[in-house]
Amino acid sequence: MSDVLHECPPGQGEDPVPPPSRSALDAEAVKLAYRRWAGVYDTVFGGISGVGRKRAVEAVNALPGTKVLEVGVGTGLALPCYTQSKKITGIDLSGDMLARARERVQKENLTNVEALLEMDAEETSFADASFDIAVAMFVASVVPHPRKLLRELKRVVRPGGHILFVNHFLAPNGVRGVVERGMARASRSLGWHPDFAMESLLPPDDLARARIQPVPPLGLFTLVTLDRT
Ligand SMILES: C[S@@+](CC[C@H](N)C(=O)[O-])C[C@H]1O[C@@H](n2cnc3c(N)ncnc32)[C@H](O)[C@@H]1O
Repeated sequence: MSDVLHECPPGQGEDPVPPPSRSALDAEAVKLAYRRWAGVYDTVFGGISGVGRKRAVEAVNALPGTKVLEVGVGTGLALPCYTQSKKITGIDLSGDMLARARERVQKENLTNVEALLEMDAEETSFADASFDIAVAMFVASVVPHPRKLLRELKRVVRPGGHILFVNHFLAPNGVRGVVERGMARASRSLGWHPDFAMESLLPPDDLARARIQPVPPLGLFTLVTLDRT
């Protein structure tokens, strides 16, 4: 695995991504990191990220449409929070995380979870416009190529549908920004990028039209909603 930064090549109808200040997490690094995290993920991350996850699922529940794609579903912490009318397909790169999600679905009898599939969110096997809504919770800063993820979600969500992200984004300045840039050296073992900038995910046009809502506590996380035009 290379430590060279992976980014979508510019010049494919998109604005170039600003020079990233982060080390790459390719698919194998993601799988390895989440193999280590799977057993303790809910205890270590479940609490701190709980409000962001709750906000995102509340937003999904309030939107029209029933077919929901949750990418990077992980251990399935969000799955019990969807209303029964939403039919959920969850995908994740990590078989270890998915195994926990499958246990949860069985234990809690979550009958509206239609499928949990091992699949790369940047390159899925779904047909165009398969879903009304796609949601990615704490995933955008983990995937190797965030803009490729966005393009894929635009492809699989129908026009008029919605794409939601909840994530931690780099604080542009101040003490938090300095700390986050420092923490970025540990991206590989953390399994996410503490120095992930919103511009790495959203090209300027999308950035301008997205609904951006800080999530408590302390605005550490942000909910981003994009209408699929
Ligand atoms: C920080 S966890 C978030 C899990 C869950 N969404 C939550 O809210 O707890 C990130 C998840 O994204 C998954 N992931 C990373 N890259 C992926 C990719 N390219 N395709 C699908 N899943 C991916 C990881 O395996 C991991 O389960």
